[in-house]
Amino acid sequence: MNVPYYYAIDKELDVFEHAHTCKIPLLLKGPTGTGKSRFVEHMAHKLKSGLITISCHEETSSTDLIGRFIIKGAETVWLDGPLTTAVKNGSIFYLDEIAEARPDVIVAIHSLTDHRRELFIDKLGETVKAHENFMLVASFNPGYQRGFKELKPSTRQRFVALSFAYPEAKIEAEILTSETNIPMDVAKKLVNIATKIRNLTELGLTETVSTRLLVDAAKLIHTGLPKRLAVHVAVIEPLTDDLEVVQALKDLSDLMI
Ligand SMILES: Nc1ncnc2c1ncn2[C@@H]1O[C@H](COP(=O)(O)OP(=O)(O)OP(=O)(O)O)[C@@H](O)[C@H]1O
Ligand SMILES: [Mg+2]
Repeated sequence: MNVPYYYAIDKELDVFEHAHTCKIPLLLKGPTGTGKSRFVEHMAHKLKSGLITISCHEETSSTDLIGRFIIKGAETVWLDGPLTTAVKNGSIFYLDEIAEARPDVIVAIHSLTDHRRELFIDKLGETVKAHENFMLVASFNPGYQRGFKELKPSTRQRFVALSFAYPEAKIEAEILTSETNIPMDVAKKLVNIATKIRNLTELGLTETVSTRLLVDAAKLIHTGLPKRLAVHVAVIEPLTDDLEVVQALKDLSDLMI
C-alpha cells in the first residue's frame, strides 16, 4: 500500500522518527482537522509499524484499553485490549483526544511513558514489558476543551510535544489539489475563504474552518457540485447553528468563489 499522503509543514517527520528511536511518547496538540491523524498514519507507514488508534470519550476506561475477561461457553477467557496488543507486538498506539478519557486511563499509561516502559495489567496481576518498537502517541485539542479538561503537568511532561495549526495559504492550497485534484485556482479561492473566516475572531466560534472542511468542499466540487453550494454545506453549515452568522458567511463566501 502507498504511504498515506502527508505534506510536512515543519520538522515534524524528524521529531517523530527521533522520538520513535529514543522511545519517548509524543503528544500532538492542535485544533480539529489539522492533519494530526494523517501524520500518524503517514509515519506508521514510513516506519513500517503497525498502528492502533483509539478515540477517547468520557466513558473510555483503562479496561477498554488493557483488556477484560469475557465469558466463552463455560469458561472465562482473558482478552487483550488494544493497548496491551500494541505493547506486546510493538505497534504505534495512537490515543486520540487523550484529555477526554477517564483518569484511570492516564494512570494506566504512566508506567509506559517513563523509563519503565511497562504496562501493569491489574486484573491479571501481571506486568508486561513493552516491545522495543512500541510507541505511544496522543492527541490533545487545547482550545476545544476550554480549560475544563486540561492535562496535568505530570502527564504532559512525559511527552515530547508538537503543535499543529492551519498551514499557510500556499501549502493548504497544495494539500487541497493533492487530496482532490481540483484546479489550483479553485483551491486558492477555498483557502482565501477559510483565511477570511479564520480572521473573523469576533464570531466566537468554538473551532474555525479546518483543512478537513476545505478538503470536503474540494471533493464535492471535484465531483461536480456547484462551488458556492459546496462551500455552504461543507464549510459554513458545519461551523455554527446561528442562522444569522450562517447567512452572513454564505453572503461573504459567495463573493469570493
Ligand atoms: N499536512 C497535511 N497533509 C495532508 N493532508 C492534510 C494535512 N493537513 C490536513 N490534511 C487533510 O485534512 C484532513 C483532516 O486531517 P486529520 O483527520 O489528520 O485531522 P486531525 O488533526 O486528526 O483532526 P481531529 O483532531 O478532528 O482528529 C485529512 O484527511 C487530509 O485530507
Ligand atoms: Mg484525528
